[in-house]
Amino acid sequence: MIRAAAIVAVAIGAWLHPRSFGVAPNERGWSQAPYRAPNERGWSQAPYRIRQHSPRPAPPADPTNRVADDPRAAKLGQRLFFEKRWSKNGEISCATCHEPERAFADAKPLGEGLAKLERHTPSLLDVAYNRWFFWDGRADTLWSQALGPFENDAEMGGTRVGAVALVASDATLRAEYTALFGAPPDVGDAARFPRDAKPSESNAAANALWLAMHADDREAIDRAASNLAKCVAAYERRLVTGPSPFDRFVQGLDDGDPAKLGALSPSAQRGLELFVGKANCRLCHSGPNFSDGEFHSIGVAPLAGPPPRDSGRHAGAKLVREAPFNAASRFSDAPDGDVAQRLATVRSGPEMWGEFKTPSLRNVGRTAPYMHQGQFATLEAVVRFYSTMEGALAVGHHQETVMQPLQLTDAEIEDLVAFLRSLDGADVADELQRAPSDD
Ligand code: HEC
Ligand code: HEC
Repeated sequence: MIRAAAIVAVAIGAWLHPRSFGVAPNERGWSQAPYRAPNERGWSQAPYRIRQHSPRPAPPADPTNRVADDPRAAKLGQRLFFEKRWSKNGEISCATCHEPERAFADAKPLGEGLAKLERHTPSLLDVAYNRWFFWDGRADTLWSQALGPFENDAEMGGTRVGAVALVASDATLRAEYTALFGAPPDVGDAARFPRDAKPSESNAAANALWLAMHADDREAIDRAASNLAKCVAAYERRLVTGPSPFDRFVQGLDDGDPAKLGALSPSAQRGLELFVGKANCRLCHSGPNFSDGEFHSIGVAPLAGPPPRDSGRHAGAKLVREAPFNAASRFSDAPDGDVAQRLATVRSGPEMWGEFKTPSLRNVGRTAPYMHQGQFATLEAVVRFYSTMEGALAVGHHQETVMQPLQLTDAEIEDLVAFLRSLDGADVADELQRAPSDD
């Protein structure tokens, strides 16, 4: 049986590596290494493992959002992303926290809108590749995520009625919306459509106004708000970075071009070898997005010190299944599709307490600080944490048994950091980094 498995592994390997590599790029000789059976010697598995991370395909389609790839929707979504008028004080937009010039993050440990948040603002670069959204994955689609922040009283503090009223009353927004979805609901009667109405657990007054609305009116608002969110997602889907030095290096492995192989310094190449080898980062940071799209507890202590209070995926799993705008909801354009069916597989056991989403490592050189509360200021601090696991908390008895201190040398830490820095992709086009200019 073991023999058979080994033969299959060799056969697959041979199929993946039909040719031997060309000229040696440097003394390390990645490219000269002839193909060897995976178990024959240490890093000869590396070329196969490396190819799992590059090239990266286009972002997966999103059938739950029928305007996901409609350029008109992306343009309206881009307007909304930079729109401050739908916040409570008229001063906050998505871009306040997801700043284009900071890789669509904010460089602060914790996000800050109308109030300080409990979690770190993630970068939105390449966000379309993610499977779950938020650190706890409480949204299962990019568009349903967008319905959170603009109503959250600590973020933008707006309301869905207010957002629809804004679109209905602004000539440009209204025309663009109508071209995509037909006319927005007629919300002119502010007694029937109170601008401050929204479903809310923390804001009783807003919630009462919302519940007092006619069910049909609430439905019309929810429908229109989900349309707006789908436009925002269509814009976010375009925030895809270009190839990174690492991607060029992998191309070099294929065609033996020394210039491409030179895209990674010798130190970054050693770091890559550690990443896919001894340090086994690929266990969770797998595939072209450098994330398994799942949730783990690696034991990072809260910013304010122990004990941990954020249950992460434990709460997120429940929230996503119950989310009124999830992929299986009537607002989804594919309520029976694969994304919706995935919800049925979401478990929420006690072992998930303190688990957070494995973040992508693409562009990680540009998105300090790191982790769900920005606990680490630099990549070096992150890698040192993995090396010593100093200060790591066991969350009950549930901490991943895989997280053993790696005991890296200083040189190895430097190499891993050099590799992580090679994952920064070419920036998105300038015209995506500001509100669309009117044409
Ligand atoms: C006040 C700061 C702030 C504002 C304003 C804000 N965000 Fe965020 N954003 C955050 C924080 C913090 C998180 C992580 C929250 C969590 O995981 O619970 C986040 C998470 C996200 C995510 C999830 C990314 C992922 O891969 O998990 C997306 C997408 C996103 N925001 C888009 C938006 C959009 C669109 C808007 C405007 C409608 C917006 N944000 C407004 C701070 C902000
Ligand atoms: C058991 C799964 C797992 C393994 C193995 C793992 N990571 Fe992580 N990594 C995570 C999770 C989960 C987070 C987010 C944790 C949090 O926010 O509390 C994370 C966060 C990070 C971050 C911060 C990214 C950001 O945007 O905030 C970096 C950098 C990172 N890991 C690099 C590595 C490296 C390098 C290795 C190998 C030495 C490694 N990881 C091994 C799961 C893992």
